[in-house]
Amino acid sequence: MNYEGKGRCVLCDTPFTEDDPPVSVKGWVAEMTGQEGLAHYSCMAFMANAVAYERHKLPWSTGLPHPVVVNLTKNEEIAPGTLLEPGAGNGENAIFLAARGFDVTAVDISSAAIEKIREHAEKMDVAIHTVVGDFLGDISLPHSKYDYVFERSFLQTLPPSLREKYVERVISHLNPNGKYLAIVRGSRYPEPDSQPYAFSREDIQDLLSSHFVSLDIRPTVSGTGGRERDYWFVEAAVE
Ligand SMILES: C[S@@+](CC[C@H](N)C(=O)[O-])C[C@H]1O[C@@H](n2cnc3c(N)ncnc32)[C@H](O)[C@@H]1O
Repeated sequence: MNYEGKGRCVLCDTPFTEDDPPVSVKGWVAEMTGQEGLAHYSCMAFMANAVAYERHKLPWSTGLPHPVVVNLTKNEEIAPGTLLEPGAGNGENAIFLAARGFDVTAVDISSAAIEKIREHAEKMDVAIHTVVGDFLGDISLPHSKYDYVFERSFLQTLPPSLREKYVERVISHLNPNGKYLAIVRGSRYPEPDSQPYAFSREDIQDLLSSHFVSLDIRPTVSGTGGRERDYWFVEAAVE
């Protein structure tokens, strides 16, 4: 695709490329970056989150593991194994799982977020792998394949144009018998056209059903205490 007519990224002032196409900067991202217009996805994700962590504007952060994660481990519905978490944020779920025997790799584009995870894990004497980087870009991970890819509120940050790439990336990191576990923001009215995006059950089915042999989508909550709203818990198996 030729992006010549699209101008330059409002955040880095360089042209768009096939590998890093333009996305619209609006809503929460415009608030964080102070810009509007078209930007590379990678610039947008990096800059908006850098500002959010610097200003401690983290409406998603709960300080607690998500109730679904707590129940999955309590009821032994998931057994310890290797687990990759893209967009791990402050690591509430990553550290909880690592403390229960999972070999966790937490990835986040924000170095401040990853630093928090390292500090917290050290305080709790929990072993965890941490990686600063763009999950959709080039990252180097400690394992080539994982038993689980888990995420909370990460898919909702991706523009529709990058969701297929994301799912392919998730699958490329999963063992043949691996599972994708996700806590995804449910439908909202009016439907947002910038992040955080909203997903109906059908949106999730359309995105995932052709990639996984089994797909279970159940209602859950965001896990943010007083700010609870509809979310989905998604469990998908590769084989
Ligand atoms: C809505 S927050 C959710 C954080 C965490 N999962 C939680 O539940 O608290 C999204 C997280 O994804 C990170 N992020 C956004 N784009 C990313 C990317 N392309 N690669 C890796 N992390 C990314 C952000 O820095 C942020 O920490």
